[in-house]
Amino acid sequence: MSTHSSLRSIILASNNPGKVREIQGLLAAYGIEVCPQAAFDIGEAEETAPTFVENAILKARHASRQSGMAAIADDSGIEVDALNGAPGIRSARFAGPKASDRENIERLLEALARVAEPARTARFRCVIVLLRHAEDPSPVIAEGTWEGRIARESRGGRGFGYDPVFVPAGRECTAAELEPGEKNRLSHRGQALRLLAERIRSAL
Ligand code: IMP
Repeated sequence: MSTHSSLRSIILASNNPGKVREIQGLLAAYGIEVCPQAAFDIGEAEETAPTFVENAILKARHASRQSGMAAIADDSGIEVDALNGAPGIRSARFAGPKASDRENIERLLEALARVAEPARTARFRCVIVLLRHAEDPSPVIAEGTWEGRIARESRGGRGFGYDPVFVPAGRECTAAELEPGEKNRLSHRGQALRLLAERIRSAL
């Protein structure tokens, strides 16, 4: 896959509506159109690898193989220092295999119930990869991190996942209280996507 136009339309290996919204919004600004894999009837790949980058590659390869298109996948999660980096790559499944965002947040707040303010530090991490085709031997890889701390209770109705309990460094509000544009400007995913978009453009 080497021409400019062939990379304009890319399959997105995620069915998480919150992520799809953020990724489509950010890449549209670069003239890159992404279409979620659900639109092609492609199911999610199992995230069996131990690192964000390997899981992202695994998901992108699955989507690219099934669709025959270039594919983007992200793998992301939250690392909490008082929990030695957990839930990390298991963020989506922290409270169980089919846990809801609310259940994951409840489990996190319980785990941190006795942890005092200065020790409630955490960060979101995001790794995004682009595979130009399923056998692409040199994926384009971009990463972002977003530092903050875990609040004592949920606040705000925007965003998804752990946003209602994540207070970005230097702020008092949670990520779920930020305007979407502001979240994109600061977030781990926003940083990774801007880097990826720059790298895609310079690779064309
Ligand atoms: P995965 O990348 O599909 O394995 O899922 C990552 C999980 O990390 C999500 O389901 C959320 O629980 C959490 N997560 C990742 N990025 C964010 C974010 O921007 N806000 C809130 N939670 C997030």
